[in-house]
Amino acid sequence: MAQQIFGNPSLKFNNEIPSGKTVWTSPSNIALIKYWGKKPVQIPMNPSISLTLKKSVTTTSIEFQPATNGFDLTFYFENQRNEVFEDKTKKFFLSLTALFPFIEQLQFKIHSSNSFPHSAGIASSASGMSALALGLCDIEKTYFNTLDEKSFYQKASYVARLGSGSACRSVYGGVVLWGKDDLVPNSSDLYGTPVNQLIHPEFLHFQDTILLVDAGQKKVSSRAGHALMETNPFAQTRFAQARQHLKELMSILKHGDLDRFIQLVELEALTLHAMMMTSSPYYLLLKPNTLAILDKIFQFRDETKTPVCFTLDAGPNVHLLYPENEKQIVRQFIESELKKHINENGLIHDQVGDGPKKIEK
Ligand code: PMV
Repeated sequence: MAQQIFGNPSLKFNNEIPSGKTVWTSPSNIALIKYWGKKPVQIPMNPSISLTLKKSVTTTSIEFQPATNGFDLTFYFENQRNEVFEDKTKKFFLSLTALFPFIEQLQFKIHSSNSFPHSAGIASSASGMSALALGLCDIEKTYFNTLDEKSFYQKASYVARLGSGSACRSVYGGVVLWGKDDLVPNSSDLYGTPVNQLIHPEFLHFQDTILLVDAGQKKVSSRAGHALMETNPFAQTRFAQARQHLKELMSILKHGDLDRFIQLVELEALTLHAMMMTSSPYYLLLKPNTLAILDKIFQFRDETKTPVCFTLDAGPNVHLLYPENEKQIVRQFIESELKKHINENGLIHDQVGDGPKKIEK
């Protein structure tokens, strides 16, 4: 059913097959209400909501030309041919031929690079998959003229979701909901919905300093983590809690209630990791330095009443969230107390951004 929303058998070149190139920069996002647990095909077990970042981005160029010997694709990551990504992307593109039939008529050369370390618990799959999805929609828009502005981003979000669930939220700037929720008209499990009109402007300027405790590859992939929710004894309670949290957070974000924001966002982060610790087999992604940082945040908040909090992705790194007008005091705190717990070059001062950009030249 879903496939028919954006599937279109007429998206095939009839006469001349073109050559060209499309380049997109697309950001990562950090979830406040976490998506953890899904059903086929990439349908979330609960709605989630995230902040789109500004500086943590993937830039992806898709070059294409007529496929003389059928579909083919080469993939370069940070200027090096990368067979793992090549294989994954080939499979991904071939899974999309009902949505973009022209894929089979083309040969692709893809160059992609990140502004941050790959697989560090910073959602590189979110920025990477959304950049690819935007590129494919751009080819459709350019040559078939089928997508207006709204359907362009909706289809890109839909396609990004098929690559990596959380990627569907990276297609828009600001605050993005993914999943059906009665409070937000037209929200869907199939694609993200920007909700910036419902948000106090303070949150649209929020800062996110990412503290890289360990920039190595994750030991357990998100895919495996989601699958373990199928047998986690707390899963149903967690999904119900996330739905309730979403309602509370929408109200908090609307009214700008920072105290409640802090409590809810930290609870969500710890619950995500609690789900990992209570899966079977269990696993633990937090590191001693992660806990040391959390402890210091609690202490700093107690002592100074500064509205700063943490959230966590599926990894040991800490995202420190704070309003723009607290930048000075929080940055001092990071320098004096937190820096000793992170990697060399392990600081990324990011903030909420306004979404992907097409690079025209
Ligand atoms: O998009 P995936 O399948 O990599 O899942 C990522 C889920 C979390 O990042 C842990 C939470 C979220 O909602 O982004």
